[in-house]
Amino acid sequence: MTVAIATLHEQVSAWLKASRQRIYRELQAPLTVATKSGRTDLVTNVDRANQRFLISQIHAAYPQAHIEGEEGRQAKLDRLAGLVFFVDPIDGTMNFVKQRANFAVMIGVYIDGAPLYGAILDVARDELITGGPNWPLQLNDRPLPTPADLALADGLIGVNGHMLIRNGVHVADVALKSAGPRLIGSAGMEFIAVALGQQVGYVSYLQPWDVAPGLAIGANFGLQVTRPDASAIDLLEPGIVVAAMPKAHAEIIDLMQG
Ligand code: IPD
Ligand code: CA
Ligand code: CA
Ligand code: CA
Repeated sequence: MTVAIATLHEQVSAWLKASRQRIYRELQAPLTVATKSGRTDLVTNVDRANQRFLISQIHAAYPQAHIEGEEGRQAKLDRLAGLVFFVDPIDGTMNFVKQRANFAVMIGVYIDGAPLYGAILDVARDELITGGPNWPLQLNDRPLPTPADLALADGLIGVNGHMLIRNGVHVADVALKSAGPRLIGSAGMEFIAVALGQQVGYVSYLQPWDVAPGLAIGANFGLQVTRPDASAIDLLEPGIVVAAMPKAHAEIIDLMQG
């Protein structure tokens, strides 16, 4: 199967920009906030509406595509064959509800399990980061430099707050060895920070739609994205993700084995 990446980029960019307009229009009315698995696991009417919008756009443009999105009722994927779109209609829902900033809309596109293209929109700043193994790293269609391959001691590290507090998989040790930990609260915004060279990596427990867009973008610039034992990410399962530039990634993996 071949997909024209330039066309895909134009389409996905337009869908994410349209999502932004829709989100701000919907915010003119009060938000409806519900909990899912617990009090910190939120979903709003805007998450649901935006997933419906994105899925309808993808279906219309790519009727053959399989779609895995966070919200909604579509069946969970059981294989990665063919063209697959991973959709997070709002990443960082807690930030969206509490801050109206530091949240993203994001899409990752894969063919037979291999990354093709990723796009993450920082909604509040209106900054769209895109990239893929055969698509340049760009911010709003302008090229970005490749992030520096810093040692862990020279870079900031994005971390999941719960994992840091509990020192799960030695995340506190990783944070102590780094130039400092940062907790943004949105996987998409963390991957943007890495792509912009603002932090050297990110460690969290993520669902497939949280990691797929950033993994595809990172394939452009040598970002290492693995499990803590350095094994490859299986995009059918949630799990701990270590995403970092090569030098820092090797150091983090060493610390996690310790
Ligand atoms: C969450 C955010 C958060 C990460 C969670 C994700 P959501 O996404 O990315 O930073 O720590 O694991 O579930 O639920 O707001 O789309
Ligand atoms: Ca969620
Ligand atoms: Ca998410
Ligand atoms: Ca979400």
